[in-house]
Amino acid sequence: MAYNLLKGKKGIIFGALDENSIAWKTAQHCYAEGAEIVLTNAPIALRMGTINKLAEEIKAPVIPADVTVAADIEALFTQAMEHFGGPVDFILHSIGMSVNVRKGIPYYENNYEFTHKGFDISALSLHRVLQTAMKMDAINEWGSVVALTYIAAQRVFPDYNDMSDNKAVLESIARNFGYYYGTKKHVRVNTVSQSPTRTTAGSGVKGFDGFINYAEKMSPLGNADADQCADYVVTLFSDLTKMVTMQNLFHDGGFSFTGVTQAVIEQMEK
Ligand SMILES: NC(=O)c1ccc[n+]([C@@H]2O[C@H](COP(=O)([O-])OP(=O)(O)OC[C@H]3O[C@@H](n4cnc5c(N)ncnc54)[C@H](O)[C@@H]3O)[C@@H](O)[C@H]2O)c1
Repeated sequence: MAYNLLKGKKGIIFGALDENSIAWKTAQHCYAEGAEIVLTNAPIALRMGTINKLAEEIKAPVIPADVTVAADIEALFTQAMEHFGGPVDFILHSIGMSVNVRKGIPYYENNYEFTHKGFDISALSLHRVLQTAMKMDAINEWGSVVALTYIAAQRVFPDYNDMSDNKAVLESIARNFGYYYGTKKHVRVNTVSQSPTRTTAGSGVKGFDGFINYAEKMSPLGNADADQCADYVVTLFSDLTKMVTMQNLFHDGGFSFTGVTQAVIEQMEK
């Protein structure tokens, strides 16, 4: 059901790779709520994924940008502002990649070249996007920026590997930049800490099936899926959450504050 919550708003969505991507669902939900969208992803992802199908569906241009390349981000904002005829109202950062995870290298043996690359893509990219936007004055007053994160930023989930560190820094950047952008232009910056979700990035984590089943059992409401995450993000882009900023917001069916559930106790007693 749509409520026109984003009528007249314009936004950039990073990270829609295929129809499982959280960014893909978010783009669909934003469009359904009346927003105009520009889609972006790394050039290689544009070749491998199916983003053009989404672009057609929601009538959005696709502008390639590698988030580790400052010139790409500048070109993205320039073209997006040309397309919209002015600055944007919202940005979704839905990007994550760890070379150590991909290559199955355990945390205690991490290759630092790989660590740097993953950090640049998964965490520093949020700073780069915000810094470029601020310099180019590319976000309207009372705009909203959301980045997606995971609870491994606060607690240990062994196979989440160096992505845990990346997420901890990502959340810190959201807080710190949220201060400066809030003071300067009333732009709010938040992270949404989502349940494990079956996507390309999610399924890359070793033992993901066990991970997702455990979280399901440990959450009073069960795991939140990608469509529900998209709904939540829509509210954060809307004018109904104007005073929410610098927060890490758990969207996880209650997982983060649950010590144990009856379902897990019963499992342990078997
Ligand atoms: N799936 C989960 O279980 C889960 C849970 C919590 C948070 N998240 C977070 O949600 C976000 C989206 O991930 P997803 O699960 O939808 O997976 P996904 O694989 O669909 O999305 C990850 C995206 O990052 C993009 N990306 C990678 N390198 C890039 C680069 N250099 N430049 C630009 N884009 C680049 C990929 O092309 C892809 O579109 C990530 O931040 C992820 O950590 C996922």
